[in-house]
Amino acid sequence: MWSMRNLLVTGGAGFIGSNFVHHVLAHTDLHVTVLDKLTYAGNLASLADLPQNRFTILEGDIADPGIVEQAMSTADAVVHYAAESHNDNSLHDPEPFLQTNIVGTYTLLEAARRHGTRFHHISTDEVYGDLPLEGTERFTEATAYNPSSPYSSTKAGSDMLVRAWVRSFGVRATISNCSNNYGPFQHVEKFIPRQITNILDGHRPKIYGEGTNVRDWIHADDHSSAVLTILDKGIIGQTYLIGADGELSNLAVVRQILVQMGHPADAFELVTDRAGHDLRYAIDSSKLRNELGWRPAFGDFDHGLEQTIEWYRSHEDWWRPQKAAAEARYAAQGQ
Ligand code: NAD
Ligand code: TYD
Repeated sequence: MWSMRNLLVTGGAGFIGSNFVHHVLAHTDLHVTVLDKLTYAGNLASLADLPQNRFTILEGDIADPGIVEQAMSTADAVVHYAAESHNDNSLHDPEPFLQTNIVGTYTLLEAARRHGTRFHHISTDEVYGDLPLEGTERFTEATAYNPSSPYSSTKAGSDMLVRAWVRSFGVRATISNCSNNYGPFQHVEKFIPRQITNILDGHRPKIYGEGTNVRDWIHADDHSSAVLTILDKGIIGQTYLIGADGELSNLAVVRQILVQMGHPADAFELVTDRAGHDLRYAIDSSKLRNELGWRPAFGDFDHGLEQTIEWYRSHEDWWRPQKAAAEARYAAQGQ
């Protein structure tokens, strides 16, 4: 990989993209260009304090062929994180999900095709739909696609575009589908930061339905190391599942947050369930571990969660500007 010099990171001002930029600048000599539209989810404050001589920010839309052409013309590789990423928003206004996740990915693929740029596509395990609550079955690279929401169906569509551009046009692409991420710089609309910041504000955490749904948690920094591994050693045309064996019910997570923050474990509220709410996600990441030798560094969710809680405690200036608008959107939905 290290014949590469310039890495283009789409969505690098978002949660996982900004964690990746921090990781790349700390662990490689690459120069990074971030292409980001700076939607409500993009935040330049997540990229403050980085070495200015090693990265450039281009504000623009991945569905705009002009800015994409400019960004791609100097890139040796692109890691494509930019997306509309929140299921709840996709249920209320799907259109931006189609535009960014489908048309945006298409626009990037066409530019990568023209320039012969190495392409890594970031996707989600949610393209596989959900698993029964009871049971030990996990998603593998061979699981059939069966997305449930406008968000996951547009991510599934983007994965299919990448596969077609590899086969039909020889684009040198890989895909990764990762489980639920947690860590610093995550928007407060998402589950873990919403609950931490609710507690910091003196409000109860809000659990959808009965809280029995299960998610498979991975620290964003482990996601980043997996992506770098795939960029370095992944086989063109292949898909790799990324996960760290972090299955927990939403109830278990919220109880852990409450206890770690010094509150009774049952001081939460049950609210209206999400429409079509996926029951359980679980990742089998054997292919990535056995074929590419990747291992997660955050073995212990408790410890990663403690660090994340501490990060939100000490970075109110980062999350406070998002909080009222996110809660107003939830209040309108009875959540
Ligand atoms: P996020 O919402 O925090 O960040 C998305 C970023 O993309 C923002 O900076 C936003 O400004 C930018 N963006 C949105 N539309 C754009 C456009 N049209 N042009 C350019 N930039 C645009 O999302 P995230 O949670 O960091 O997710 C990043 C990627 O990882 C997504 O592709 C998502 O599907 C995938 N993913 C997320 C998770 C998770 O747990 N959050 C898990 C697996 C995969
Ligand atoms: P979320 O962070 O939105 O991620 P995803 O939908 O991609 O899994 O939600 C994680 C889980 O938490 C999901 O089962 C929905 C649930 N949830 C709540 O119970 N309460 C909340 O306030 C939010 C935002 C999510």
